[in-house]
Amino acid sequence: MKKYLFLSMAVLMAMPAFADKAPMPTDAPKSYEAECAGCHMAYPPGLLSQKNWQNIMSGLSKHFGTDASLDVKTQTEITNWLVKNAASKYKYSALAPDNRISKSTWFIKEHDEVRAEVWKRPSVKSAANCTACHKDAARGGFSANNVQVPAK
Ligand code: HEC
Ligand code: HEC
Repeated sequence: MKKYLFLSMAVLMAMPAFADKAPMPTDAPKSYEAECAGCHMAYPPGLLSQKNWQNIMSGLSKHFGTDASLDVKTQTEITNWLVKNAASKYKYSALAPDNRISKSTWFIKEHDEVRAEVWKRPSVKSAANCTACHKDAARGGFSANNVQVPAK
């Protein structure tokens, strides 16, 4: 009896930590890294809803001011994988404005202590540049104890 109580408490205590992470799935197609990590980091699919990923993948010719078009086969491969691994639980699954992780409600809340000036520092430039501050971002690690905001 005691043992079970201890186990369920351990599970409960571990939950907030999991909720703040979006581990990069290990089955990413090679095309994801090749096609979606050239201009910015390859975002972990678990940080956006299915609908957001579908929107992004069906609008690649007008992608945040650039053209990120792909051939149909690659586009389908990446879309299927993103949708399969999209956020399903916790806060990350809400529809994000402009299909931006950096505009989702949880993002704004988690970053309310980051001053406006910080986002504009030359080594940061954009809130979408997760790796500037989260050293483990490419693996989907966003834990608060691995954040280092660059001084300039
Ligand atoms: C030609 C360059 C380029 C390529 C290739 C590219 N992107 Fe982007 N992407 C951008 C730019 C520019 C932005 C806006 C970045 C900013 O605001 O700092 C962006 C933003 C994003 C965002 C929103 C980031 C945020 O939360 O604000 C997502 C999600 C995204 N891209 C996914 C993808 C996916 C998926 C692919 C591959 C199919 C891809 N991108 C390929 C240039 C590119
Ligand atoms: C200018 C630096 C900076 C950038 C860029 C940045 N973050 Fe953060 N992030 C922070 C800081 C600072 C915190 C608060 C850490 C704390 O609670 O002590 C944070 C917190 C978080 C948390 C909550 C962590 C926790 O355990 O409470 C998540 C998740 C997160 N960021 C994801 C992202 C994602 C995804 C991106 C890119 C789309 C991003 N961040 C871009 C600085 C940044």
